[in-house]
Amino acid sequence: MRNPYSPGAGSPPPALVGRDSHLDAFDIAVQRLGIGRAAKSQMLTGLRGVGKTVLLREFGRTAESHGWTHVPTEATEDQRFVESMAALVRKALLRLSAGRRATERARRALGILRSFLVRWNLPDGGELALGFDSVPGFADSGALDDDLAGLFAALGGLARERHTGVLFTVDEVQYLSRDELSALIVGLHRVSQDQLPFMIAGAGLPSLPALAGEAKSYAERLFSFPVIDSLPSGEASEALSAPAAEEGVDWQHDALARIVNLTDGYPYFLQEFGKQAWDVADGPDQITITDVEAAIPVAVHELDSGFFRARIGRTTNNERAYLAAMASLGPGPHGSGKVAAAIGKTTTQVGPHRDALIKRGLCYSPRHGIIDFTVPMFDEFIRRWTA
Ligand SMILES: Nc1ncnc2c1ncn2[C@@H]1O[C@H](COP(=O)(O)OP(=O)(O)O)[C@@H](O)[C@H]1O
Ligand SMILES: [Mg+2]
Repeated sequence: MRNPYSPGAGSPPPALVGRDSHLDAFDIAVQRLGIGRAAKSQMLTGLRGVGKTVLLREFGRTAESHGWTHVPTEATEDQRFVESMAALVRKALLRLSAGRRATERARRALGILRSFLVRWNLPDGGELALGFDSVPGFADSGALDDDLAGLFAALGGLARERHTGVLFTVDEVQYLSRDELSALIVGLHRVSQDQLPFMIAGAGLPSLPALAGEAKSYAERLFSFPVIDSLPSGEASEALSAPAAEEGVDWQHDALARIVNLTDGYPYFLQEFGKQAWDVADGPDQITITDVEAAIPVAVHELDSGFFRARIGRTTNNERAYLAAMASLGPGPHGSGKVAAAIGKTTTQVGPHRDALIKRGLCYSPRHGIIDFTVPMFDEFIRRWTA
């Protein structure tokens, strides 16, 4: 029998337990924008492994179910933001134009993209070389917020002409710089006043760049910022039991309770423990506490060598020492001063390592002078790993 907890095994529903309210709000927002009303998009934040990416992908499906075009992207530590924005716009324009005679508006939109590419020194995509003239005066000012607004307006206008809409989803938003995120928001705000069927949804770690000034107040108007967290025990149990029930398999009450307790309801952990318990269980139609006890060391080993290990992959010795000091203090958050003291240094001395860990998305600062892990139960892992 197939293991319903293997990555990619379950069709979306079990992996979306507890997220109905976000999905409903998103669905309504798409419909409102589709009829020219104002609506808020969502910028999801939360620790690693809580289900942000899964939910963002589901937003994409929701938009598609209304006939919209969805173009996803994921920011990385070392990627050029303007380049990925241009790529998203290009994909969306091409999809909106596919199989249709190019209207005046479509030609113009491609021309505006062309201006943007030239202004920002970006490679011209093959299709666009086909002779769409640049449209001077749009998306070529050199101010990123204005130029993005020009692109978004061209795209949204074309979508409206086609009686459809466009959604961009941007995952790992914490890797954008503050300037990039500000430009994105200010640009989006500028087109939002025209009530175009164009939307951007995002997800990122709690270390999302802190916005200031107009970008901050616009962000509050354009987005809600739901915090995606671990699942309360009832929903965590359901996330485990529902996929098994579909295969005609039951979980014993104690067996469920043990995993929910051990994982604190963190979705990624629930899935890994569920997967191992399923593999260990003799069945045929029940997973027992004995199965779970046997699966625990296997699941812990899998997490250590995969999920956790992957996070520390590229850290330096100094950064690891900082993580070890944090872990020695227990689960976070911790005062930065205490962490520094645990290594026998001053806050200033360890500042660069702390900043590097934040930049890599391993830690974040929930408040001034406070540091925490972005990965749930990371302190336990570090202690196992350095033991
Ligand atoms: N609400 C949920 N219920 C059950 N499993 C979930 C839920 N959300 C996510 N998962 C599972 O947890 C794992 C991590 O989800 P992911 O979206 O990659 O997290 P993030 O993007 O927050 O790091 C995925 O394998 C997913 O199937
Ligand atoms: Mg993710």
